[in-house]
Amino acid sequence: MKNKILECLKGSYGYVSGEKISNSLNVSRTTIWKNINKLRELGYKIESSSKKGYKLLESPDILTEEEIKPLLTSSCIGKRILHYEEINSTNDKLRILAKDGENEGTVVIANSQTDGKGRLQREWISDKDKNIYMSMLIKPNIPPYVASGITQVVAISVVKALETIYNLDFSIKWPNDIILNGKKVCGILTEMDGEIDKLNYIIIGIGVNVNQEIISEEIKDKATSLLIESKKNADRRQIIASILNEFEKNYNIFKVNGISTFVDKLKNYSALMNKRVKVSTSYKTIVGDVIDIDNEGYLVVRTETGEIKNIISGDISIRGENSYLPD
Ligand code: BTN
Repeated sequence: MKNKILECLKGSYGYVSGEKISNSLNVSRTTIWKNINKLRELGYKIESSSKKGYKLLESPDILTEEEIKPLLTSSCIGKRILHYEEINSTNDKLRILAKDGENEGTVVIANSQTDGKGRLQREWISDKDKNIYMSMLIKPNIPPYVASGITQVVAISVVKALETIYNLDFSIKWPNDIILNGKKVCGILTEMDGEIDKLNYIIIGIGVNVNQEIISEEIKDKATSLLIESKKNADRRQIIASILNEFEKNYNIFKVNGISTFVDKLKNYSALMNKRVKVSTSYKTIVGDVIDIDNEGYLVVRTETGEIKNIISGDISIRGENSYLPD
């Protein structure tokens, strides 16, 4: 009921009378009053006047479906949004739902995570109230071997979304990190379920450091937040909606054309082009210069012996002045 009342408040410019709400929802004035108080407890600022009714003055910074959906232009991505105040990991939650037949497009968002995961079993620090922790479920009808391109489509979508909100230069550290002023502000964790020739679903986890004022000592040389770099507090709902909207547009193109349409953008945004890097894959380590991103979205590296390697995925360290920077 409180969500329906919230919809009424959001749908009307100034005041909306108790009578109007009660007629349209077919509930008593007492029910309205009780639910208005529930909304106030959640942080909604609602003015009430015995003559004019109720007026929504301000919404809290909460990442619920009711707050995000009105900002969406997408039709599939974000069709269902589940919000948790605290959860172990949004990726893990979405995996359970996916195994149970959840539809494509569902998004899980948490205000904090107790077991946030990064790539390679790393921890993803997930403090409450500050950042974005969300996962999207997709079920593209594509062969598993092209699925790695999805991470890059997401990276491009995140950059585009952030660029429209912040007037700053973002880059992509292939394949899954978004970089601002040389430090990471966003990481993407793509997990896939399928067989050798059949993809069941993909879960894309996105963590963005938004309003975090302080970065912990262990990672502060390599990570930052949008607040630290821009000196501006941002509305997380707007960033989430913008990412989902951008992603749906790009995802629809990707399903038809594959990754090739995005290669020019990937090169333009690349934080690695012409850099000396160390690439660690599960079975070997390669040192060389990044010379290209090919039409499959693979990173092209020329090794010290002049060999050309096209790399599908790996953990990349960029060489600094004297050493490889840890990532
Ligand atoms: C990385 O850079 O290593 C990837 C980080 C991905 C973090 C996000 S936060 C939301 C989602 N849930 C998780 O447990 N991880 C991803």
